[in-house]
Amino acid sequence: MSSLHLGLIFLAVILVGATIFNRKKRSQAVPLPPGPQGVPLLGNLPWFLCNSNFIWLKFTELAQFHGELIYLNLAGKSVVVLNSAEAAFDLLDQRGSNYSNRPELIMASKILAGGVHIGFVPYGILWRKLRKAVHFGLNKKSAEAYFTIQEQETKVLVRRLLKAPDEWHGHFNLLAASTILSIVYGVPYSLSLDEPHIRKIYQFMEHMLHAAVPGNYLVDIFPFLNRLPPWLARFKQEGLKAHQTYTDLFVSLLESETNKSYRNLSFAASLSKNEKDLGLTIKEKAWLAGSLFGGGSDTTASVLSVFMLAMILHPHVLKKAQAEIDQVVGKARMPCFQDQGNLPYIGAIMKEALRWIPITPLGLARSSNDPLIYKGHYIPGNSIILTNVWAMNRNPDVYHNPTEFIPERYLSSDNKREIRPKYTREGTHAFGFGRRVCPGSNIANNTLFITIATMVWGFDITLSDPSHPPSMDSLMDNGAVLRPCPFKCSLSPRPHTESTVSKLVDE
Ligand code: HEM
Repeated sequence: MSSLHLGLIFLAVILVGATIFNRKKRSQAVPLPPGPQGVPLLGNLPWFLCNSNFIWLKFTELAQFHGELIYLNLAGKSVVVLNSAEAAFDLLDQRGSNYSNRPELIMASKILAGGVHIGFVPYGILWRKLRKAVHFGLNKKSAEAYFTIQEQETKVLVRRLLKAPDEWHGHFNLLAASTILSIVYGVPYSLSLDEPHIRKIYQFMEHMLHAAVPGNYLVDIFPFLNRLPPWLARFKQEGLKAHQTYTDLFVSLLESETNKSYRNLSFAASLSKNEKDLGLTIKEKAWLAGSLFGGGSDTTASVLSVFMLAMILHPHVLKKAQAEIDQVVGKARMPCFQDQGNLPYIGAIMKEALRWIPITPLGLARSSNDPLIYKGHYIPGNSIILTNVWAMNRNPDVYHNPTEFIPERYLSSDNKREIRPKYTREGTHAFGFGRRVCPGSNIANNTLFITIATMVWGFDITLSDPSHPPSMDSLMDNGAVLRPCPFKCSLSPRPHTESTVSKLVDE
């Protein structure tokens, strides 16, 4: 389970007493959703601690007995797990005003991020302003402005893969980080993850993750500690100092875009252009741009690793995709966004990669405001709400043979019509639900499409050691996203790749 979720849940658990009393006041007539049997006082906390590794798998098992809603009582704190797409849609989409908050993390969100990180900000005025700004810069139409950057990045990727194919894992990390930096700040493509600004942003991300891990900061266990003045509380002094360092970093990155190439295209430039309309302070703008890197780098790279795993385990899918791409793109040029409408199978592979191994299997935790009765169950106010995307994506009533990688499930039999399962957004649950749905989904989809198309066009991807195929179960959870562990595979350029690319790329 991601540290972020654990953190959100753990600190909420500490607020034992008040919640126990609230529950006693609840009308006994309406039952809570079903869930595992708890123990006195601690409820399901012992179960939770024993099962916290890859906990979405346990939730998915429980869902087979209990159904679409599971209730856990963690020492008095309510956690409700939504296992069906319908429940997620009914609550998070249809009743968005009640389910668009995030649980509060004092150290990570309030102190380190100074209350301005879009992913943690409470549902309210500031969140709306930040979302409006992101929408301006990253909506479907605006995202088209970044096509050139994304195409350029894939050309550089192929060059790197030709030189060092075994390092594909790192090349994907670099592609994802570099693309998002170019889009956000207008800096040209990055040569290495060791570039100082990239290293500093990764340090920031690690710090945020660390702050979100249960028990790392006492203030999240005893919130009253946050009332202490900084001179009495070392964690606060250090946290505020780090906040200032990150603010300086993000402000300098934001301002540096004005001197770089691609500048008119960048998200930062769109913030400047729409300054009056958006009404954001320099600090809010700087943090908004900075937080997009965290949202968009590891996530995109992880889905690309899932794609690689799918290709080596399902060679017939790669063959079929190569046939499509050879017919539409040919060998004398690389794929581009104009081909997208003619590459339905590549689009279906992308959707299937997002479904097969959802890299955020529990979405990002929400918090409810008021209590609600849903399908005869009482969902308490101030509950933590988790969306079990893993279970939704493996529902056999929606996806036949759900553990298999079958891109065809997203296409009509003549390959002409796209199929979007009910309650999905554009065919997937990967980007979340309702008002807090991922605002970077257009950018992510575009990067995924062009990279997958390029890989299929340029390389044969096979198992290096057929006697030891990597298992689709060998996944690692780095605290924020799920990703297949790095594995060996053989990436051989197709006969046309080197000659075509050498004519195009000038790194
Ligand atoms: C494949 C790649 C990606 C995946 C799977 C993904 C997934 C998600 C999910 C599940 C959420 C939580 C949504 C919810 O609460 O229902 C989220 C939020 C967010 N994502 Fe993404 N994301 C991806 C790429 C990106 C990119 C490229 C960006 C930026 C350009 C981005 C920026 C954000 C931000 C800022 C939020 C917080 C939104 C809020 O709380 O209002 N993500 N993402």
